[in-house]
Amino acid sequence: MSRELINAGIAGTGTYVPERVLYNSQLEELVDTSDEWIRSRSGIRERRIARPDQATSDLAVAAGERALENAGMAPEEVDLIITATNTPDMFFPATACLVQEKLGAKNAGAFDLAAGCTGFIYALATGSQFIATGSCRTVLVIGAENLSKITNWKDRNTCVLFGDGAGAVVLRPTVEDRCILSFKLRADGAGALHLHMPAGGSRQPATRETVGQNKHYIHMNGREVFKFAVRVMGEAAEEVLALAGLSKSDLDFFIPHQANIRIVKAAARRLGLPMEKVLVNVDRYGNTSTASIPLALEEALQSGRIKKGDNVVMVGFGAGLTWGAVAIKW
Ligand code: ACO
Repeated sequence: MSRELINAGIAGTGTYVPERVLYNSQLEELVDTSDEWIRSRSGIRERRIARPDQATSDLAVAAGERALENAGMAPEEVDLIITATNTPDMFFPATACLVQEKLGAKNAGAFDLAAGCTGFIYALATGSQFIATGSCRTVLVIGAENLSKITNWKDRNTCVLFGDGAGAVVLRPTVEDRCILSFKLRADGAGALHLHMPAGGSRQPATRETVGQNKHYIHMNGREVFKFAVRVMGEAAEEVLALAGLSKSDLDFFIPHQANIRIVKAAARRLGLPMEKVLVNVDRYGNTSTASIPLALEEALQSGRIKKGDNVVMVGFGAGLTWGAVAIKW
């Protein structure tokens, strides 16, 4: 028996960033770096840092509440919560379950999704499939990170890059063609060690020694990740455009993962897009991993840069290595 697939559309968005701003000049006091180096090599001017008492679920709940309000939905109407994160509150249970309880989404299933910084793209694609098959009518997709808690503040290679934040979208069935048009998810585990947290899992359980060796923090081969990102960003965008039956000239707005302004510009060049059609907020938030795309989406909507009927492509890349893209008609 074949069933018609149902279009999934974004019915609401919401974000949250912590109040505390950390400026490049403050990092100059922690490590051997400079505001000039950070700005010119990454485009970052400042980032937000969560309070010590704020865990990832707290950020996720704030963004989730706003998204539900924006969509005009009550928590009880949510069928499924997917939380994409690299910084769960705990190894287990899933952060999504903590979010479910705090939101009062008493009719929802909940799970976490780990796909590095591509997590939001993976979660959006996954959530859309629950809508497409008719098994859910309301899916809350959240990208939330507390990267400051897994950052080695003595490592200049990483500590200047990351920030905290959360963004959420509500997916609902739609009869219109303003919906998720296509997606593509990719992975290459051969590059897993270019970006990872070495200890704390079953390969190297946490011990005094692993903590002493800073193996519970982000370890990154920045140059390799940079080369990979520049290669895959434009490619993934072109793939989802083709799957949606669109060409590069049909693309109205581009939302890339915000890791480094040089990576964003390289992807835009490949797509032949002027920077007016590209959302950039890495200067204000740094790399917020799974939160970066929904934070950028909300900003583009609030500023009116995305208009009804626009073809929008979002692209992510990150640890795994993973990458992926989603095309949406807004
Ligand atoms: N301040 C000053 N100097 C620095 C700093 C710093 N904060 N960090 C590194 N350097 C030095 C390096 O030690 C190196 O010195 P050396 O030549 O004496 O060894 C020099 O600057 C140049 O280093 P590069 O790595 O070549 O610098 P690059 O221009 O590539 O910029 C950066 C580094 C910003 C990390 C870049 O490679 C990058 O953005 N990579 C991608 C990172 C990324 O996107 N990660 C997140 C992925 S998403 C996820 O899943 C979390």
